[in-house]
Amino acid sequence: MEARNGEDLLRSLCSAPGRKTCLFLLLFLGVWYCQALEMSTGKIPYLEAVNGSTVLLPCTYLSCIGIKNLYFSWSYNDNGTMQKVCDSVIPSEDVEPNLKIYKERVEFVGSSKTQNISILLWNITFEDAGEYTCYGKNPKEKGRNHSAIFTLVVVDELRVVDNTLTIIIASCVGGFIALLMTFMLLKNLTLFVLAKLEEKNKECLVTSSGIDNTENGLSGSKATPKPTPKKA
Ligand SMILES: *[C@@H]1O[C@H](CO)[C@@H](O)[C@H](O)[C@H]1NC(C)=O
Ligand SMILES: *[C@@H]1O[C@H](CO)[C@@H](O)[C@H](O)[C@H]1NC(C)=O
Ligand SMILES: *[C@@H]1O[C@H](CO)[C@@H](O)[C@H](O)[C@H]1NC(C)=O
Ligand SMILES: *[C@@H]1O[C@H](CO)[C@@H](O)[C@H](O)[C@H]1NC(C)=O
Ligand SMILES: *[C@@H]1O[C@H](CO)[C@@H](O)[C@H](O)[C@H]1NC(C)=O
Repeated sequence: MEARNGEDLLRSLCSAPGRKTCLFLLLFLGVWYCQALEMSTGKIPYLEAVNGSTVLLPCTYLSCIGIKNLYFSWSYNDNGTMQKVCDSVIPSEDVEPNLKIYKERVEFVGSSKTQNISILLWNITFEDAGEYTCYGKNPKEKGRNHSAIFTLVVVDELRVVDNTLTIIIASCVGGFIALLMTFMLLKNLTLFVLAKLEEKNKECLVTSSGIDNTENGLSGSKATPKPTPKKA
């Protein structure tokens, strides 16, 4: 009973007599739910790219109460200090922003028609690696700010190829060595066992007695592979 109270309440309110209260409640919940501006750098806000390539730093915004003079910016966390990459204001929906760009090799590829404020970073270098923050502030929400982070990792393709090659070679060599060791171990073990048996055989032959002979015959039949190399 207790657990279903909310659902029951909503159902009774939304039945004919309480329809107005129900609508009010739903409206209230809706406004409360979608008040915030949302910045998003995608499901996987992380990219590993080779130096010299051109990457997209994705960011989109979402606001169900609409935007007016939405301020947005991209900034780069350069060793603790935030460096502005670019910023602008979107006056209203469907009006393209007039971008101010503060970093070289940056191109705005977004569009307010698709709530897209992504940028392209051309010909990336190792210094470009790091955290990029997509920031937004909608005056309609009393200027509350929102942001999302995208991480760029710059790698040297050659090093990656080298690594895989090294791993392949290492595992091949390792496998071969392991095989060799196993083989040698088995060989040594076999030789050791054979030697032991031979020793035992000799001992038996030397100290042979009537009873020992039958036992000797048994162990001799067990170690049949041994006499052949001796004869050969
Ligand atoms: C990537 O970095 C390496 C090492 O610094 C450099 O030799 C190479 O030319 C760079 N590649 C590009 C495409 O810039
Ligand atoms: C980053 O910060 C460290 C320590 O604060 C400093 O030694 C280093 O030179 C800085 N690097 C750059 C690229 O500013
Ligand atoms: C990127 O590099 C290519 C080739 O080096 C060059 O032609 C192009 O102008 C560069 N683009 C930018 C935006 O620097
Ligand atoms: C944003 O725009 C860029 C360039 O047109 C596009 O590549 C990217 O897929 C867009 N992102 C989203 C989430 O629509
Ligand atoms: C975002 O807002 C918080 C408080 O609401 C403030 O402390 C912070 O400095 C703001 N960030 C930016 C980048 O303006």
